[in-house]
Amino acid sequence: MSRFSLDDYGELGQAISQVLIQPDELQQRIQELGQAVSQDYAGRNPLLVGVLKGVFFFMADLMRQMPIPAEVDFMAVASYSPESRRHGMVRLLKDLDRSTEGRHVLFVEDMVDTGLTLHYLLRILRARNPASLEVCALFNKPRRRLIDVPLKYKGFDLPDRFVVGYGLDYREQYRHLPFVGVLKPEVLHEPLNNRDGQRAS
Ligand code: PRP
Repeated sequence: MSRFSLDDYGELGQAISQVLIQPDELQQRIQELGQAVSQDYAGRNPLLVGVLKGVFFFMADLMRQMPIPAEVDFMAVASYSPESRRHGMVRLLKDLDRSTEGRHVLFVEDMVDTGLTLHYLLRILRARNPASLEVCALFNKPRRRLIDVPLKYKGFDLPDRFVVGYGLDYREQYRHLPFVGVLKPEVLHEPLNNRDGQRAS
């Protein structure tokens, strides 16, 4: 394992109280996920679908661990309101460019928290008649789950703490840290109740 120090990340590193997953551990697990997905989807030309923005780091690294033909597409969503968000309803800001009809669709998520967003988007995708539809999630917070969602491939279970890095943000910052860490309480100035990053809980 390579040497890793929070000091290498300047003021971003200083905002972190604890590193939960180091860069090497992340890449190792993503390699394993890429191998598993590649075995299962060989000869099926899967369409990997992600929801912007947090997933783009994971999507890029996962696909680079997949030595099989595969395509990628993205959606972007926003909440109608905090109330609709609590029901998992989201507005599609950007739909997929590709048709999913008859395709083997692998929905790739960075984080599954309450599961509401995923549940809602899977329902939309299922209605479009894919040949198959499965989920690959890198991070999972099982203690926050409000609705059951099927995760065929899963990277890491996380505790119910506010974490940043590797795609996960706090007010759009910290996504580009190559590790996952807990944000210091003093950095969380005020609870968030909208979609600017994870909601503080
Ligand atoms: C995260 C994540 C999921 C959603 C999961 O996105 O990428 O889409 O939250 O939450 P849920 O399970 O409680 O529904 P976020 O809203 O933080 O947007 P981002 O990817 O742009 O950071």
